[in-house]
Amino acid sequence: MTRRFVSPSRVRAVLLLLGVLVLATSCGWSLWDSPMTTVRPRSDFGRWIDDIFMLISWTTLVIFVAVEGGLLYCCWRFRDRPGAPPPRQIHGHTPLEISWTVAFAVVLLILGIPTIRIIFKTQEAPAATDLRVDVAGHQWWWEFKYPGLNVTTANEVHLPVGQTVAFHLQAPDVIHSFWIPALGGKRDVVPHRVNRLIMTPEAPGEYYGQCAEYCGTSHANMRFRAIVHPKGEFEQWVKAQQAPPVESTDALAQQGKDTFGKSACVGCHTIAGVSAGVIGPNLTHFASRRTFAGSLMQTTPENVIKWIENPDHMKPGALMPNLGMTGDKSKALAAYLLSLK
Ligand code: CUA
Repeated sequence: MTRRFVSPSRVRAVLLLLGVLVLATSCGWSLWDSPMTTVRPRSDFGRWIDDIFMLISWTTLVIFVAVEGGLLYCCWRFRDRPGAPPPRQIHGHTPLEISWTVAFAVVLLILGIPTIRIIFKTQEAPAATDLRVDVAGHQWWWEFKYPGLNVTTANEVHLPVGQTVAFHLQAPDVIHSFWIPALGGKRDVVPHRVNRLIMTPEAPGEYYGQCAEYCGTSHANMRFRAIVHPKGEFEQWVKAQQAPPVESTDALAQQGKDTFGKSACVGCHTIAGVSAGVIGPNLTHFASRRTFAGSLMQTTPENVIKWIENPDHMKPGALMPNLGMTGDKSKALAAYLLSLK
């Protein structure tokens, strides 16, 4: 009689399973749509990694279904029934033990051989025709130098589609990790050595990057963007970056330039023809960048003013000191920086 009732513990177990299912599948769409997704690769490097990921995922899914299916079948088929004799025992069954050892060795080979092949393929030396970009991971922002083009920028790396790029990764302070999920990677950026990452972006677009190695207080705020240009557009960007900064005739901007030149700003920042500091980001074409401060904020007057007035408040642990620039000074400085197209 009592068997007809569903016990509360069984109800709880079913609810728990349903909850886990909902939670697990809720990741599904964000996996596909998120700007940080790795499953929609946009470079050769990204495709190779994705192929391995898919191979491993499908192989392990098949194994999971086979093993769990076998387990459930056996649980049901050989369940304890009153009066039934115990099922045949297979302990010490040599052919069975050999077959499941061999089967999993084969699985390891299926997964291992392509994985090792891709590891070597992604370690190749750069070619002379590659676009070289020197990347420096600083606490907490990214610097990008194009040695062949005499361009230096920060937090936004521009690339031409279809051109192989060789990132030379260096860390002036602590260990960081360079990662643009849509373009593949990631690779550690380690002090006292140069790591390389070579890839060919295959689709124009704006891709999010992120430091992927804990590097201090604002590690999570150490972001960047890779902007992949259609053919021809990259050359325009390079020309604009190579040009001297635009001189604004605006009075407030001029006042800001004056303040910049007379303050400690010049010790850390380069603005071509104005200052030559190299500790912080090069600001020659600051206003050409859509984001700043580790790609944390949109380049808007409000954000730039807030940043100048209290960097630490905007990006905890920021190494840019608070120079006590407030009121007219911060407004003028922001006007100047925003004139630097
Ligand atoms: Cu740099 Cu985390």
